[in-house]
Amino acid sequence: MRRFAILLLVALGGLSACSDSGPSTPDIPEFLEARSPSDKLAVRFYLSSEGRPTYRVAYYGIIDIQPSHLGFDLKDAPPLEKGFAITGFENRSFDATWELPWGEQREVRNHYNELFVALQEQEAPHRRLDLRFRAYDDGIGFRYEFPEQENLDEVVIMDENTEFRFQYDYECWWIPGDWDIYEHLYQHTKFSEIDALNLEEKQELAQSYIPENAVNTPFTLKQAGKTHLSFHEAALTDYAGMTLRIEPDSLRMVTELVGSAAGHKVRRKVPFSTPWRTIQFASDAAGLIESNLILNLNEPSKIDDMSWFQPMKYVGIWWEMHLGKSSWDRASGRHGATTENAKRHIDFAAENGMGGVLIEGWNTGWEHWIGFEDREGVFDFVTPYPDYDLDEVAAYAKEKGVDIIMHHETSAAPRTYEQQMDTAFALMKKHGMRAVKTGYVGKIIPKGEYHHGQWMVNHYRKVLEKAAAQQIAINAHEPIKDTGIRRTWPNAVSREGARGQEFNAWGAANGNPPNHLPILAFTRLLSGPMDFTPGIFNLKLEPWKENNQINTTLAQQLALYVVIYSPVQMAADLIEHYADQPAFQFIRDVGVDWEQSRVLNAEVGEYVTIAREERGTGRWFVGGITNEKPRELLLRFDFLPPGQRYTCTLYQDGPDAHWNDNPFDLEIVPAFELRADHAALALKLAPGGGFALSLLPVAE
Ligand code: NOJ
Ligand code: CA
Repeated sequence: MRRFAILLLVALGGLSACSDSGPSTPDIPEFLEARSPSDKLAVRFYLSSEGRPTYRVAYYGIIDIQPSHLGFDLKDAPPLEKGFAITGFENRSFDATWELPWGEQREVRNHYNELFVALQEQEAPHRRLDLRFRAYDDGIGFRYEFPEQENLDEVVIMDENTEFRFQYDYECWWIPGDWDIYEHLYQHTKFSEIDALNLEEKQELAQSYIPENAVNTPFTLKQAGKTHLSFHEAALTDYAGMTLRIEPDSLRMVTELVGSAAGHKVRRKVPFSTPWRTIQFASDAAGLIESNLILNLNEPSKIDDMSWFQPMKYVGIWWEMHLGKSSWDRASGRHGATTENAKRHIDFAAENGMGGVLIEGWNTGWEHWIGFEDREGVFDFVTPYPDYDLDEVAAYAKEKGVDIIMHHETSAAPRTYEQQMDTAFALMKKHGMRAVKTGYVGKIIPKGEYHHGQWMVNHYRKVLEKAAAQQIAINAHEPIKDTGIRRTWPNAVSREGARGQEFNAWGAANGNPPNHLPILAFTRLLSGPMDFTPGIFNLKLEPWKENNQINTTLAQQLALYVVIYSPVQMAADLIEHYADQPAFQFIRDVGVDWEQSRVLNAEVGEYVTIAREERGTGRWFVGGITNEKPRELLLRFDFLPPGQRYTCTLYQDGPDAHWNDNPFDLEIVPAFELRADHAALALKLAPGGGFALSLLPVAE
């Protein structure tokens, strides 16, 4: 892996004053500060008159995060929140560029100014707590560090009390702070109107647990026409996931960590660091998508060689179960995962340039899946049903050059999975399978643990680490949210973690409304790749689900391959629905691994257009989507290298296209030529519509 590093170190003082015997007071200025490289953002730190750690953040001189306190409630110990003195501090700068083994861009610049502050209680037990702030041009990250010390070997955190105080009643896009699932529809309200406990829209999620008026992250806010912010966390490791408890009247929010069966939030041996608390800042919506803050705050890769994983498109024995055409369990008499059906999919993949085939329902246990309380020991990750010949399917896939994507539905019984994981991964290795889709549907067993709590955060990590050792990539459904861990563990290739395409098949009331994806692009997708599973062509789902439908046009389904980033991208429809469909050519052509990405226009919840250059080929693909409103937009090509000519195909909404009334109306404009200096293309997007454009370089 290439690395380019320039490291500047500026130590400003006081650190030597740090000791275990009690604080002395070095020469500390009234406040400490880190300013971003181009000075747009400044985070300032000081102690209040009671010795409370306090910070505030200014963006272009406006104090968007008002003075806010930092601290913890601990079990059987006084809170760590006040009576502190600053015992040392250090300012430092860093600038280096690193490379993603796969991604939405190849190179990432990590450029920040840092402030490190060492604190100590002035009275017994003189506990020490450090803080590290990083100021980037696209946001702020900070974390707590518990240094090694005499009077503290373990902390049991009852809650983290990191405050965020605002001066404006921002416009917000949010999902409730559910401890077990992120698959909610996004709400769009003022901050002062957030009410996660009384959602108007009926959201039937079996495993929901929403104890507070809190939101999950990424949590995106905007001040009309001005600052855009998004709150999240980076490098969530051996700690509980963070929700943000909303105090609507005081324009204040406070971290509310996800709990555990034991009643605490986090138990850790000292020394340790918390995840980074992150705030992305941008002057427009595009800036949020282009930010690399979350990735930059993660540790470099622990996997030296990722060449065994190639980004790919895939098809699967999957949508047919969600439509009710077949089933996962064999006892139903409609078993989908048969040897014959698998081979049919492998043939299709090989003929159409799809790298993989996902096969769900191949293993025993599905008769006892949904609705069973006692799910421990039910699923088996090595024994196929008798009508699925694993050896034969694997050999056939190998012969055709197609990867089988393994499926492990744990039914939220992670202990059963951990017991079998080594054998399950060994079976995959034996058959040359390099990726597995995992799933965690249901309430976690043991009872009292939650999908987003420390116990499960550690489980998800254990799976990644064990898989990495066997060169296996993970695509987790019902996961812990992405916090940029793919930088450190690049075998974390994708995940769900939001309401995916499948909801459209599950009953009319569950369908994703046309504004869902234009919101996801600025919320969930800021955290990392998503296995949304686009590409449904049979938009009305007939004859399987006559009362349900996909609430987009066909052109928008194509655009999603560019708008939603994932290195594993499904062509999710039944493969027979792609037969004789000229639009399928876009899915055959579109890239899945990118040299660079540009956001061409964007407005949160309204529309977004993204252009991406494929790695190694110089091909560009552009995708744009809109919510229920039609749009006209001008697409300029100044992102292309000057002089290069391209042969283009445009897939756009037809004149009468409409997500509900006429979603199939698609116009394909084939084989026209374009250059960077080409006059702009005027595009019309239908209600719930979009467009997709491929640009293939012409060899001169
Ligand atoms: C929920 C997942 O999101 C879906 O993709 C999968 O088919 C089912 N669980 C079964 O594992
Ligand atoms: Ca799911």
